[in-house]
Amino acid sequence: MSNASPRPLSIAAASPLRGTVTVPGDKSISHRSLMFAGLAVGESRIRGLLEGEDVLATAAAMRAMGADIVREDDGSWTVHGVGVGGLLQPQTALDMGNSGTSTRLLMGLVASHPITATFVGDASLSKRPMARVTEPLAMMGADFTTSPGGRLPLTMRGLCPAVPIAYTLPIASAQVKSAILLAGLNTPGITRVIEPVPTRDHSERMLRGFGADLIVEETPEGRVISITGEATLKPQSIDVPGDPSSAGFWMVAASIVPGSNITIRNVLMNPTRTGLVAALRLMGASIEAVDTRDVGGESVADLRVRHASLSGIEVPADLAPSMIDEYPILFVAAAFARGITVARGAHELRVKESDRIATMAAALTLAGVSVTEHEDGLTIEGRDGEPLAGTGGDRVASLLDHRIAMSMAVAGMHSREAVLIDDAAPIATSYPAFIDTATSLGAAPQWVAA
Ligand code: S3P
Repeated sequence: MSNASPRPLSIAAASPLRGTVTVPGDKSISHRSLMFAGLAVGESRIRGLLEGEDVLATAAAMRAMGADIVREDDGSWTVHGVGVGGLLQPQTALDMGNSGTSTRLLMGLVASHPITATFVGDASLSKRPMARVTEPLAMMGADFTTSPGGRLPLTMRGLCPAVPIAYTLPIASAQVKSAILLAGLNTPGITRVIEPVPTRDHSERMLRGFGADLIVEETPEGRVISITGEATLKPQSIDVPGDPSSAGFWMVAASIVPGSNITIRNVLMNPTRTGLVAALRLMGASIEAVDTRDVGGESVADLRVRHASLSGIEVPADLAPSMIDEYPILFVAAAFARGITVARGAHELRVKESDRIATMAAALTLAGVSVTEHEDGLTIEGRDGEPLAGTGGDRVASLLDHRIAMSMAVAGMHSREAVLIDDAAPIATSYPAFIDTATSLGAAPQWVAA
C-alpha cells in the first residue's frame, strides 16, 4: 500500500458531461464506522462503506487490534467489536499508507488502552505533523517515541487508566478533536474538547448514535464537547452517505465543461461539509439540491449540476473548515471563472497529503493559468471559460496526493490538448472508481506508460 508504482494519466476535452453518478461512501464516516463498530459489543453492519485504500488501512489496523471485520458478498461489511477497553496489542506495525485520518484517530484509541503500537506510512504521511495529536494524548498519559519533528514512523504506549483532560483546539481540526474524544472513550471521568471554530461533527453524531454519553454545548468560547469515559458502545446498522468531497470533482467538472448536465446521487449535506457548494454558488454555479432527505440522522440530497459561467470571488475564509479538502478543486473552478478569485485563510492546506497551496500553484501554472501564491492561499486569474492549452507534454506532479490528481484530471476535461499527470495511482486512496465514472460521464482519461 505504501509503495504503489506511479501511474501517469492523460486527459483532454471530450464531450459534455451527461448522466447520473453515485459517489462512494463518505471517507470520514467510513473510517469512524469501522472504528466505532470495532469498539462496540456485538455485530454492526455497514452499507456503502468507501472501499478506498485509506479506509482499508483502518480496517486492517482494527483487525490487528482484535476486531472481527468481514466484507460480505452483498458488499456490506459486518463488524464484531472488542468492546471499549478491549483492543489487543497489534503484533506488527500498523501500516497507515497515505491516511492521516486513520493515523490520528487510531492514535487516540490506542492512547487509553494498555498497548504499544507502531504507526508507519508512505512518504507523504511520514512528512505530516503529528505533534498536534501527540501533545494532547501525552497530557492524557500516552508515551511517544517519534521520528524527528514528531513524525511517523512512531511508537506509542497507551496508559490505562488514562487521565481526562479539557483541551482547547489550537487549530481547527476534526482529526485532533476526534483523537481526544476517542481517547476519552476509555478514560474514567469526563474528557472535554473546546472547539473555537466548528469542524466536521461526524465523531460527535456517530458516538452518540453508538450510545456514548456525549454532550455538545455552544458557549462564548466555542463548541464544548464532553464525553463520559468507560463507555459501552452498542452495535449499529449504518448507511454511509455519498462523500461530498468526491462529489466536488463532478460539481466543478459539470460547471466548467460547456453543455454539461449531470446528477450526483446521495450526497451528504451535513452543514460542516458543504462549503464547496456555497463557494461555487457564490461564483454563479448551477447546483440544485433535489430530494433532500434524512439518512441515519444525516441530511442527504441529489445534486443537479449544469454548466454555468463562473465569476471570480473572494472566497469567504469562514468557509474554510467546511471545505478544507475541496480547495484544490475550487482552484480549478477559479481557473475557468471570469475575473480574479482570492482564496486566503487556508494555511492548513500546507500540511495535507501534499502542500496543496504550492502543489496546485505549480500544477495550474504548468497548465498555463496565472496564479499568485500566498502563505495561506492562492490568487487565481480566471480564463473566462476559455479551455486550457494542456501541459505541453510536461507532467503535473501529484506528489502522492489523490485530490491533486483528481483536480487536475477535472481541469483536463476542459483543455484543448492533454493535461498530463505524473501519477494518478493515489486516486485509489479515496475514490477507486473515479476514472471509470469520468469515462461514464463522457470524459476521456487515459492511462499512459510510466
Ligand atoms: C478529516 C478531517 C480533516 C480532513 C480530512 C478528514 C476527518 O482533517 O482534511 O480529510 O475525517 O476528521 P483535519 O482535521 O486535519 O483538518
